[in-house]
Amino acid sequence: SPLPKIFQPLEIRDYTAKNRIWVSPMCMYSAQDGFSTDFHLSHYSQFAMRGAGLVMVEASGVQPEGRITPNCLGIYKDEHVPGLRRIVSHMHKYGTIAGIQLAHSGRKGSTIPLQQYGTRGESLKSSVKEGGWPEDVYGPSAIAYDNHHYTPKAMTLKQISETKRAFIDAAVRADRAGFDVVEIHGAHGYLLFEFLSPLSNKRTDEYGGSFENRTRLLLEVARGIRQVWPHNKPLFVRISSTDWVDGGWTIEDTVELGKILLNAGVDLIDCSSAGNDTRQNIPLGPGFQIQFAERIRNEVPGMLSGAVGLITTSVQARDVLEEEKADVLFIGREFLRNPSFVYKTAHELGINIKWNNQYERGRLKTKYSF
Ligand code: FNR
Repeated sequence: SPLPKIFQPLEIRDYTAKNRIWVSPMCMYSAQDGFSTDFHLSHYSQFAMRGAGLVMVEASGVQPEGRITPNCLGIYKDEHVPGLRRIVSHMHKYGTIAGIQLAHSGRKGSTIPLQQYGTRGESLKSSVKEGGWPEDVYGPSAIAYDNHHYTPKAMTLKQISETKRAFIDAAVRADRAGFDVVEIHGAHGYLLFEFLSPLSNKRTDEYGGSFENRTRLLLEVARGIRQVWPHNKPLFVRISSTDWVDGGWTIEDTVELGKILLNAGVDLIDCSSAGNDTRQNIPLGPGFQIQFAERIRNEVPGMLSGAVGLITTSVQARDVLEEEKADVLFIGREFLRNPSFVYKTAHELGINIKWNNQYERGRLKTKYSF
């Protein structure tokens, strides 16, 4: 019988992922001054060493104030490149595609790592003494996410243009570090999504108001990156497919934007949701966001679609792709619980994939197994 889709290779431009089980970007709050450490090398390598088709390195700030916390990874200095290159080359040894998510936190910047949330009251604010940047928190409009976050300053046109430039420069650094894929973070209420959503963007200039104006910054970033990012390398966008709030960004907007992004040279939309408005009403449950990947797959022909969110079992994962609801899966927390999720899935589905050489004796069932 043919391999289920989940274990079929996927070609994008000049790159081939060996399977479609990919590691979702996850902030680890373990960087110093934006620099990666041995933690990142071991953390990202573990997934590559255990068969992940692609590993997406966590949200990495394109500007220092574009980090979420003082401990977030950065790609805003040339000096950040060698550490990242070491991680990429190690992942490449195991045949894994290496991606990095380029991010700007916008009005959700200068916070403390989420693991510390609750240990110091309910506030997420990170002060200057704690390494934060309260004075440099900005977004499309001066509206705070909630009262546990700083109130941002509305960006000037000059700041918008500098941030755009920073995304493009970061893509150049990502290329120098050897990454195969760049993903633009346009989700979860961070800067680029704040511009998309009418709930957070109240601007009256060319970056606010109409759909065309609210999508302008993301499109300028995508087009700008596509110009410097090598033609043979894939470009992804992660988006919040909906705000889950009446009057907010919708899946219909996402589909419209998807068509424009395809023209801008984006290869895949990674379909997440939410994170921009505390009124969000999310029907959480297994695979609750798969419907959005399905919409992109059906309504934006030529665009690849990634499903993410509460995909945790081998059968569920296999079926999303067998039922043609998405082209790839991004798995987050299940990979934290079980870095061997790819091997486990193969084992449970009875599929004989190639294991990393060093671990081969874990795979083989012989008369000497015990
Ligand atoms: C995340 N998530 C996330 N998303 C993103 O786009 N960039 C990021 O850096 C992070 N950081 C992050 C850290 C941690 C610890 C978690 C648990 C999550 C969201 C993540 O990629 C994923 O979309 C969600 O966790 C839903 O998928 P799972 O975990 O249900 O498979």
